[in-house]
Amino acid sequence: MNHFTYKNKELYCEDMPLAQLAAEVGTPFYLYSNATLTRHFQAFDAPFQNLPHLSCFAVKSCSNLAILRLFANLGGGADIVSGGELFRALRAGVPAARIVYSGVGKTREEMAQGLKADILQFNVESEQELDALQEVAVGLGVTARVSFRVNPDVDPKTHAYISTGLAKNKFGIPIEQAGAVYARARQLPNIRIQGVSCHIGSQLTQVSPFIESLRKLKDFIGRLQAEGIVISHLDLGGGLGIQYREEEPPHPAEYARAIQAELAGLDCTLILEPGRVIVGNAGILVTRVHYTKQGPTKKFVIVDAGMNDLARPSLYGAYHAIRPVRDTGLGLEVADVVGPICETGDFLSRDHEVPVSRPGDLLAVMSAGAYGFTMSSNYNSRPRVAEVLVAGDSYHVIRRRETQDDLIRGEEIPAFLQEKA
Ligand SMILES: Cc1ncc(COP(=O)(O)O)c(C=O)c1O
Repeated sequence: MNHFTYKNKELYCEDMPLAQLAAEVGTPFYLYSNATLTRHFQAFDAPFQNLPHLSCFAVKSCSNLAILRLFANLGGGADIVSGGELFRALRAGVPAARIVYSGVGKTREEMAQGLKADILQFNVESEQELDALQEVAVGLGVTARVSFRVNPDVDPKTHAYISTGLAKNKFGIPIEQAGAVYARARQLPNIRIQGVSCHIGSQLTQVSPFIESLRKLKDFIGRLQAEGIVISHLDLGGGLGIQYREEEPPHPAEYARAIQAELAGLDCTLILEPGRVIVGNAGILVTRVHYTKQGPTKKFVIVDAGMNDLARPSLYGAYHAIRPVRDTGLGLEVADVVGPICETGDFLSRDHEVPVSRPGDLLAVMSAGAYGFTMSSNYNSRPRVAEVLVAGDSYHVIRRRETQDDLIRGEEIPAFLQEKA
């Protein structure tokens, strides 16, 4: 359920007509619905209310300060994967005690940043990372709360690029080797073992892989406890999928039910790291048609947003539905919706039915809230687009459109090149 709906053939976000927004902020732009974000966070979080738990929103999926603040106001935390995301989360007002830090390549500087902020836990992914964290913690005279991300070797049955819990993936510590790493960590004076974590992949449309990995984790925790290692936090990562097209992912309540049934008897605070399931269908990309052209074999609709603005179709062959902002009644046709980037891979939709469009028409690229703006770039020297949040009948530009000056900020021509122009 989201709040992008048609009224009198005009697409609205809550009570705000998209055409009016486009006229006022220009195109392209990302658009998020406050009511949908709130509803999705609560739909995910509420079914866990009987358990000690913390929903740490995966910042990588949508990192705008306003959106991070919205979830923090609802009691959420943040799952971060870089110093930059830590900076954002703290700036947004997420309490450090609700921040968990994942990722295979944390630098010593990033570790120090997390330790100084006193975040809830580091999800450590290798023995060498553990040693580095111990060293940094000694230098600062503090203790690091640690959970190890174990790799349970479970197939999440999703796109290969977003599978993370298979033995062949770079993530985590193989579950068979993890016991030895816990044993070592126990000896390190500036490390405090707190938990076990895992994240097996993204856009999962079945509950069974979550349960399979949870069973392995439970068994592992049992073995740790038998060794006298106390585990107070279990971090199950994120990964619950959404409907882009015909997928039928489990409802968050069903996911929560299955997890809670499996957790029975385990005395841990549960940490969850949802991203896509909360923001994916709470955001869209609004773009305007520049031109249309009929090639010898297919038709192209050329719009002002490209793969630099929304990478998912080019990167994963991902499907995003395209809807007209004004339903002209012209119907649908098979065409490629492409951007202005000089790459054949620059498309938002390929070989699908899309609205018959004319120059000047506005199109909504649906389900773009997750891994949309955060994966955007300046490729082809295109300023990154604005982000807008609608609440009821008002809107807020939560990130202004970049200017051409933003494009060259930080660049310099060295003196030896400056003589001739
Ligand atoms: C460690 C970790 N946690 C959470 C997430 C969020 O995943 P999703 O957006 O599928 O919920 C990711 C994304 O890949 C991740 O790598």
